[in-house]
Amino acid sequence: MTKSNVNIAIVGATGAVGKVFIDLMKERKFPAQEIRLLASKRSEGKVISVNGQDLTVSETTADSFKNIDIAFISASADVSREFAPIAVQNGAIVVDDSSAFRLTNGVPLVIPEVNANDLLSHEGITAIPNCSTIQMAMVLKPLHDVNPIKRIIVDTYQAVSGTGIAAITELHEQSRDFINSETISPEIYPHQIAFNLLPHIEPFLNTGYTNEENKMIEETRKILHAPDMLISATCVRVPVFYGHSEAIHIEFENPFLPDDARKVLNDFPGISVIDNPQNNEYPMPLNSANNNDVFVGRIRKDLSCDNGLALWVVSDNLRKGAALNAMQIAEHMIKMGLIE
Ligand code: A2P
Repeated sequence: MTKSNVNIAIVGATGAVGKVFIDLMKERKFPAQEIRLLASKRSEGKVISVNGQDLTVSETTADSFKNIDIAFISASADVSREFAPIAVQNGAIVVDDSSAFRLTNGVPLVIPEVNANDLLSHEGITAIPNCSTIQMAMVLKPLHDVNPIKRIIVDTYQAVSGTGIAAITELHEQSRDFINSETISPEIYPHQIAFNLLPHIEPFLNTGYTNEENKMIEETRKILHAPDMLISATCVRVPVFYGHSEAIHIEFENPFLPDDARKVLNDFPGISVIDNPQNNEYPMPLNSANNNDVFVGRIRKDLSCDNGLALWVVSDNLRKGAALNAMQIAEHMIKMGLIE
């Protein structure tokens, strides 16, 4: 396959991630010949500009995947469960942004900078990890390669855009209503999100952890090929529009000087270190939004354990946390000759 004759379907083209994926097609000059925009019936007929070309959105049906080489799906796990197998039957490679297949055997769960070679064993569907997992695993990988990790404790501060467009609207409206002393009626989240924090992302499991926290644990182990890695996570939704932040405490087998970690991280593709606290320089959601990199700062010795480091990691959850990672997988698969 030459670079210019890939036919691509985007399921969820009208969603928060789908829109960024479309922006990235232009930014990265993705080599698509045909681009098919798909969503629910609600969006049928909507026109979206892609690379300066006006394209009409169609309803996603079983017939949507004929002559498609790559199907990017970012809608919901149910939509992925329904349409990913159909796309594969039609000969497409699926790059799936949902949790539907991430832990399934035979489905590579890939961050290209970290484990691109896992793509070699794909059987049609490839999955991209959860947004909060991606930015953490990007940072863990180069550190783990030079000094094995024993234990991780991570707390997240996750933007509402991770929930989708309706949650972005809810934060806008609640912020306005709060300032105007009007009544707030939460719809997307169980409580008011404006001027509040929710230590609750996705349903609670029997362990007391949430499904989101469990994803960070299980997906990280799969990506790093480290099934026994000890990880504990607390995931918190915060009233930020774009950009997830994470406080990560890592215990290594051997001592790790912060300066050495800074260098290892700076040398890793896709990571930028911003770590000059004396000048108030550290990563923040506002300066990571619309950027492709994972930003790391506040790199310091964890005073509570001998071989520990503490870090602060911020990334645009819709870019590296979703659409960019998906596009990088497709780019890698083309380069590796895996798209036939
Ligand atoms: P639609 O806009 O037609 O509802 P977000 O995460 O921002 O909420 O976006 C979710 C995306 O998933 C949207 O593009 C939405 O389309 C799409 N979607 C929702 N339900 C379906 C479905 N049954 N089939 C295909 N796409 C769907």
